[in-house]
Amino acid sequence: MTDPTTLSARLVADLTASGDLVPVWRAAFEAVPRHRFIPDTVWVEDDDRLVPVDRAEDEGAWLERCYVNDFVVTQVDDGVPAEPGRVGREITSSASRPDVVALMLAALEVEPGMSVLEIGTGTGWNAALLAERLGSERVTSVEVDPQVAARARRALREAGYGVTVATGDGALGHPSGAPFDRVIATVAADRVPYTWAEQTRPGGRVLVPWTTDFHNGALMSFQVSRDGAMRGRIVGNVAFMRLRQQRGRPASLARDVHREDEARRSFTDLHPYAVLGEYDASLAIGLKVPRCKPVVEPRGEGSYTVWLLDPWSGSWAALEHEPGAERFPIRQFGERNLWQEVRDACRWWDGLDRPTADRWGLTVTSAGQFLWLDTEDHRIDR
Ligand SMILES: C[S@@+](CC[C@H](N)C(=O)[O-])C[C@H]1O[C@@H](n2cnc3c(N)ncnc32)[C@H](O)[C@@H]1O
Repeated sequence: MTDPTTLSARLVADLTASGDLVPVWRAAFEAVPRHRFIPDTVWVEDDDRLVPVDRAEDEGAWLERCYVNDFVVTQVDDGVPAEPGRVGREITSSASRPDVVALMLAALEVEPGMSVLEIGTGTGWNAALLAERLGSERVTSVEVDPQVAARARRALREAGYGVTVATGDGALGHPSGAPFDRVIATVAADRVPYTWAEQTRPGGRVLVPWTTDFHNGALMSFQVSRDGAMRGRIVGNVAFMRLRQQRGRPASLARDVHREDEARRSFTDLHPYAVLGEYDASLAIGLKVPRCKPVVEPRGEGSYTVWLLDPWSGSWAALEHEPGAERFPIRQFGERNLWQEVRDACRWWDGLDRPTADRWGLTVTSAGQFLWLDTEDHRIDR
């Protein structure tokens, strides 16, 4: 079995070589062993389900998982596996991917002496990295799940970091520690809480994985202004689980596809790659088409079905892709014509001259949030 020091050194070397880990964060990554923050049971995906890997059963496999450049699932179904036999359905807490952690810490642009509020403590690894660089007294983290918070608090303490870990809804921030120089959410939001702007000093930065039902996600970097508003731009491509209170409804082929024989049938010549495979297009479609979750179902030998599901209204659409085809059969069911909505949003994006992700901006004020393209004068109705 490879020892943790070797595995950690290999991960740091890989992240440095790929350019994800910038020099100012390297010492912190070297000093904070990730495996000390990962619980003894982690979960791996097996078909549509999540099955446990126990450290006691296979220490080597567990340790390898701690040091791959991938997220590690650390809690399912809010702590109680939903399926019989310790099998989980939904990921509810995880250690984020190391390259994403490195990218977000670089984007946070912290300097010694600054204070940081983290939303979504999870394992505590990211909080430990921040504490290693800034000092524990400058880091506060909020976690909604009491069990997860207690575990992170213990792991941080045992690793020598006296970070404040508060249990509660991170959308409310941590008023008693405000104002902060930086807020970093390691959990996604579609409606960005204004509280985070209120609890940040003017000129400070708020980093939020921003998500829509169609597209997860975009890393928004906001700057807080003297007028109290914060204005953000997309600076990266990161996917996160949502704030617990903004979860919405999970999409599931088994639950959401029904009455297939009643579907309306048509054809399209718009290739599914054009709506799902192109980051900029898929992001823009997500801005326009609410409550629509795509699921790609491989059918073997290059064939696949793209499902569009609206678990709220029960509408669904399916596009069948065959290799080499230029026209694709469509089926749509329910009160919405989901494929048409997606196609119209794609045309809308085309009509705007296909803006890239970095041209979208979001402003968050006490009155709510609004989206814009290039400047606040060009507001986009959603
Ligand atoms: C991807 S994990 C965070 C990873 C973590 N920063 C780490 O280093 O391991 C997201 C976490 O956000 C938590 N969360 C979800 N909704 C929240 C909320 N409203 N307030 C605070 N934490 C929340 C989840 O319970 C989960 O532990």
